[in-house]
Amino acid sequence: MALTLDKNWWRQAVIYQIYPRSFKDSNGDGLGDIKGITSKIDYLSSLNVDAVWLSPFYPSALADGGYDVDDYRDVDPKLGDLADFDEMLSKLHGAGIRVFVDIVPNHSSNLHEWFKEAIAAEPGSAARNRYIFREGKGANGELPPTNWPSHFAPSAWSHESTQGGKHNQWYCHLFAPEQPDFNWDNREIEEDFLKTLKFWADRGVDGFRIDVAHALKKDLSEPLKDQERYPDLNNRKPGENILFDRDDVHEIYKEWRQLFNQYDPPRVAVAEAYVPADRLALYANPDELGQAFNFELLEANFNAHEFKTVIDRGITAAKAQGSSSTWCLNNHDQMRPATNYGLLTTVDRIRWKNSGGTTNPLDEELGLRSALAASMLIMALPGCTYIYQGEELGLFEVLDIPEDQIQDPQYLRNHKVDKGRDGCRVPLPWTKSGASFGFGTGGAHLPQPNWFAAKSVEAESGVADSPLEIFRTALALRKGLVTDEELTWHKTTDANVLHFSRPNGWHCLTNFGRNHYSFAGLGEILHSSSPLAQAGIFLIHGVQTSGNDLPPATTVWLKGPHA
Ligand code: GLC
Repeated sequence: MALTLDKNWWRQAVIYQIYPRSFKDSNGDGLGDIKGITSKIDYLSSLNVDAVWLSPFYPSALADGGYDVDDYRDVDPKLGDLADFDEMLSKLHGAGIRVFVDIVPNHSSNLHEWFKEAIAAEPGSAARNRYIFREGKGANGELPPTNWPSHFAPSAWSHESTQGGKHNQWYCHLFAPEQPDFNWDNREIEEDFLKTLKFWADRGVDGFRIDVAHALKKDLSEPLKDQERYPDLNNRKPGENILFDRDDVHEIYKEWRQLFNQYDPPRVAVAEAYVPADRLALYANPDELGQAFNFELLEANFNAHEFKTVIDRGITAAKAQGSSSTWCLNNHDQMRPATNYGLLTTVDRIRWKNSGGTTNPLDEELGLRSALAASMLIMALPGCTYIYQGEELGLFEVLDIPEDQIQDPQYLRNHKVDKGRDGCRVPLPWTKSGASFGFGTGGAHLPQPNWFAAKSVEAESGVADSPLEIFRTALALRKGLVTDEELTWHKTTDANVLHFSRPNGWHCLTNFGRNHYSFAGLGEILHSSSPLAQAGIFLIHGVQTSGNDLPPATTVWLKGPHA
């Protein structure tokens, strides 16, 4: 299937996120790789996705799962080479699937040539000016220059001696010490990233996911200031925080847009930016990245009111910028939704995960039903649907990874207070049995639980009510149903049921409650996330009507004559 020439292909696309090291291993070394992705193009086609987004596959020592990049313009030899990448890209394109790559501009790894040069160089040198090096405080510079916190460690500063430096400076890293932050006030950095974007765009890459897009610019004016409270973006005027979401970051993306628009069709981009909705819209401006992830559903409970609020806010914000909304329930940083929605009581998810899932009851059946219902709901919304690998299999979070096998720096660096994100990064199960459930012949780099057998692609394929087949049918139908980016809400007789339709008469009803809901007269039933009860006689508004029954935690799609 050829790629469409439509410049707006991205506005309502289905994008499948691949975490390459955990997708499919082709050479038996326990790590997923590029050839592994190529070998599964038929599978991706069977899902009817419009694009894949690859998390980083660049050379990396994996201090942060590949988000510590040694070289932005190459493939990690553990995952293949550029020829493998080109082959994968051309075969994906041949199958009508576009490709996003992940750009990590806030920081490189400590093994990047430039950082090694910087560590070996003198304070004040051009090499050090590519990063953020400063003298420490205290009589002998023995204290970090500011109180800036890191996401993975207490301080965003490490002394250069920890990296073999011979002087007495500190360098800044908002994430792990192996992820030194670039100095985006240095034009050389801006030019180098333009070169990287061009490198991938010239190869035919269609889009870019921009990692921590809101952190590149910092207030580096002397003397450096402490951050008052973290992560409070409201204690200064919006756009003037010392570390995040500064107004001047947008200059960078305006320049990137000029580059993207030199291609036909223009390259597209989506920002990962944890900022309030009104500020998020700025990144999605058509003169900048064009789209930004809306992460609000990741935080929402499976609750009609919460979902509706987030949906309305997301659509309004995207529209105001001429962008389209992005919907996701999961990614490589988040707990799996089937687990999330199965928690019967409101809990601190991090504490619960740390306990190995023992402190609060989990109803897996309800969790999975709810996750499938939520997935079919977001697929019906105007805008893009993001699916994270394994979500289509209804995978749960893996909660019992032994401590000595945990890889995530969030856990390893952060005083072990957060068990981290490995539980959603365990290699995918392809087959019911065999070495690493078909992931590869050489084991899996994170341990797979036994229950993966029943959740494998093989076990679910062809089984009508399996998560995989529910996804496949939904995504195939969605292709023919996508219509103008409008939505109309309809009143329901139960506040726990959301009902909206699209301009072409595509109706979507989701029952978030615990009671059954009766509906009738909306059109032909197309698909549902769990089996519907038989048609029967119901009382609707006091009137006996023959209708259908929408069970709890279920979404149904219908096609009627009217919106
Ligand atoms: C983003 C990535 C996350 C990574 C962090 C640092 O939030 O999604 O996985 O740890 O950036 O690069």
